[in-house]
Amino acid sequence: MIISAPTDYRAAAQRALPPFLFHYIDGGANQEHTLSRNCEDLQAIALKQRVLRNMEDLSLSCDLFGDTLSMPIALAPVGLTGMYARRGEVQAARAADNKGIPFTLSTVSVCPIEEVAPVMARPMWFQLYVLKDRGFMKHALERAKAAGVTTLVFTVDMPVPGARYRDRHSGMSGDYAALKRVWQAACHPKWAWDVGLNGKPHDLGNISAYRGEPTQLEDYIGWLGANFDPSISWKDLEWIREFWQGPMIIKGILDPEDAKDAVKFGADGIVVSNHGGRQLDGVLSSAKALPAIADAVKGEVKIMVDSGIRSGLDVVRMIALGADCTLLGRSFIYALAAQGQAGVEHLLSLYESEMRVAMTLTGAKSLADLNLDALSQI
Ligand code: GLV
Repeated sequence: MIISAPTDYRAAAQRALPPFLFHYIDGGANQEHTLSRNCEDLQAIALKQRVLRNMEDLSLSCDLFGDTLSMPIALAPVGLTGMYARRGEVQAARAADNKGIPFTLSTVSVCPIEEVAPVMARPMWFQLYVLKDRGFMKHALERAKAAGVTTLVFTVDMPVPGARYRDRHSGMSGDYAALKRVWQAACHPKWAWDVGLNGKPHDLGNISAYRGEPTQLEDYIGWLGANFDPSISWKDLEWIREFWQGPMIIKGILDPEDAKDAVKFGADGIVVSNHGGRQLDGVLSSAKALPAIADAVKGEVKIMVDSGIRSGLDVVRMIALGADCTLLGRSFIYALAAQGQAGVEHLLSLYESEMRVAMTLTGAKSLADLNLDALSQI
């Protein structure tokens, strides 16, 4: 299949992957209404065409926490990235690095911090959940510091895992899950050889490093359920603020009042996010939530956004709605599953050229020019 658009990678990933992995990344919570709204609401936003404005010297560059990104995109933390391609976190980190944007390693990555950080020229970002086992958190923070991580991304919209019904059908969890996965791997011999056999060890590298024994993927869903902490509050983040001097981003904000609390807490950035529609189904899409949040805290904290971004046009829309930067999750995982590091680099090139066309034709020479005036009312 010829890949010509960013969205072509989804079908390519579906062909490459055993269904339990495809549906784990592709799926959302409950009836997946928010998952759909994230894309639909964003795509419904009309850009305003402007012409004859001398658009030479257009720049996509984005200043964030003392760093200059080639474009307003970072790769989001995605659990189990190393199951989507051989040592997937390493491949994705290299791709991000080559394209001049940050890569965020998930707490629940396959490759541990120490395997990924050294392959990057720019500092890695690291994502943490607030977990019941505070010893684990402290250990992970110390290792992140030692590996040169600069920026911490705190995911706060997962005090409990959402209801992911697709996973129960696909073999990610539910009855006969292990049997289903073996059968699916046998039906995808390329994946089975490349990732299943040659991509080992398949454990949760960061967790295993702490526990001193392998944490098997079979334990993944159970581990998430047992370790997520429904009692989490802003107080639980305070000790981390003391411990961590670098930039701290709070991911999972969907309400302006929570955004103001993040500013009060002293966050350097927030991510407007409904976790890609994977947590509370029925909530607003990120595109609909973003303008009110930008109204409340723009300029006081860097505003990032994810959920529903599938193209360079979508990035432009999010910046116009008030974001400073965007995060890509599913979109880069599809490309990684289909074509590894080269796929992610190609995807990012497509995003970049789409953004250039869109900015040229909206008359925005830089991100600073992209605001609500770049949008039409429909
Ligand atoms: C983990 O963050 C997930 O959404 O599965």
